[in-house]
Amino acid sequence: MLDIESVRKEFPILNTKIRGEPLCYLDNGASAQKPRCVIEAVTKGYEFEYANVHRGLHYLSNLATEKFESVREKIRRFIDAGNAEEVIFTSGSTEGLNLIAYAWAEKNLVEGDQIILSIAEHHSNIIPWHFLRERMGIQLKWVETRADGSLLAEDIISAMNEKTKLVSITQMSNVLGSIVDVKSICSAARDKNIISVVDGSQAIVHLPVSVQDLGCDFYVFTGHKLYGPSASGALYVKKARFEEMQPFLGGGSMINHVGRESVSYNIPPHKFEAGTPAIIPMIGLGAAIDFVEMLGRENILEYESGLVEYTNIRLSELDFLNLQGTNSDKGGIFSFIIRGNKLHPHDIATIVDQKGVAVRAGHHCAQPLLDYLGFSATCRASLAMYNTEEDIEKLVKALKFAIELVR
Ligand SMILES: Cc1ncc(COP(=O)(O)O)c(C=O)c1O
Repeated sequence: MLDIESVRKEFPILNTKIRGEPLCYLDNGASAQKPRCVIEAVTKGYEFEYANVHRGLHYLSNLATEKFESVREKIRRFIDAGNAEEVIFTSGSTEGLNLIAYAWAEKNLVEGDQIILSIAEHHSNIIPWHFLRERMGIQLKWVETRADGSLLAEDIISAMNEKTKLVSITQMSNVLGSIVDVKSICSAARDKNIISVVDGSQAIVHLPVSVQDLGCDFYVFTGHKLYGPSASGALYVKKARFEEMQPFLGGGSMINHVGRESVSYNIPPHKFEAGTPAIIPMIGLGAAIDFVEMLGRENILEYESGLVEYTNIRLSELDFLNLQGTNSDKGGIFSFIIRGNKLHPHDIATIVDQKGVAVRAGHHCAQPLLDYLGFSATCRASLAMYNTEEDIEKLVKALKFAIELVR
């Protein structure tokens, strides 16, 4: 079981006050706060261990390379990939998804081929596919959520047909919190020779993940939501896909030999990692993974599940709130508006901020979903391992304060 008080002590920012109030940070879906070990790994990296990687023969370059490369094995273990070379370092999910679109999809798809997306995808899992629609005539097929906000594997599977070549689905909606049975989707896709891409940006923070068990071809996640630094992240590529892929960015590190009229490429994963990487952020991500594993992913899940249930109950009791996504298989992301549009989501976020409560308001980079739900914006409270029932009570109190202003 998680000792929440000791967990909270590891996050220095939770001791700070915002507008004279202790910080109540409920914007974790956007980015999570950093534990001391991550901050220290970054500081130590720059203070004592910094040089460029993969190139030098001197002590510091070797040290930095060793530290940097050791994160590949940590990530491999964390997502249960079969092989460390299947882990490509990226700056986050956005880069990972663009890489798949350019390196795999652009090479293997032709005009008229179809890509299945859910209506609940983040823009980073939409725009790279729109590029292919615009440039190559690829068709996008959208699968909608059910009335309770759930995104069902059976709906995605029944959308697959002989034209479908790729399916790219979030494992957890960043707006509704809905958790998706991506394992069933990947299994059906495999049976039909359809390539599967899983966007694990939100899910990996809360759920244990095994890419081998999911059976996906590609899996992306981003480090800054997983308590690591921004500009860190990874893309898992099933080994069998490598030979079907063309390089993404061109530059240093990704080549074997360069001549005037020819170029040959390095082996994966380096073939897909051009230029100087985010050395210290990746080392910080390694520290974040160590931290999560030290606490235990099952323990985090158990603690957060209780908090999700508590939050659901407390927010459902507020009769002025219109809560979106009421399905039972839901993680710690709560989107809502005020009934009758008495307050715009931006106003709610600004008012609760006066009470030290940080929530998100806007379209959450998921405009197709917001359009489908019929809103231009919602307010979103999203949980992390360090949130408590007290945080939820502060949110409830701040929301009541906001509604009193317009009553
Ligand atoms: C579901 C989902 N996918 C992708 C992303 C993009 O992540 P990043 O901006 O770190 O690349 C986000 C970020 O909010 C997300 O929530």
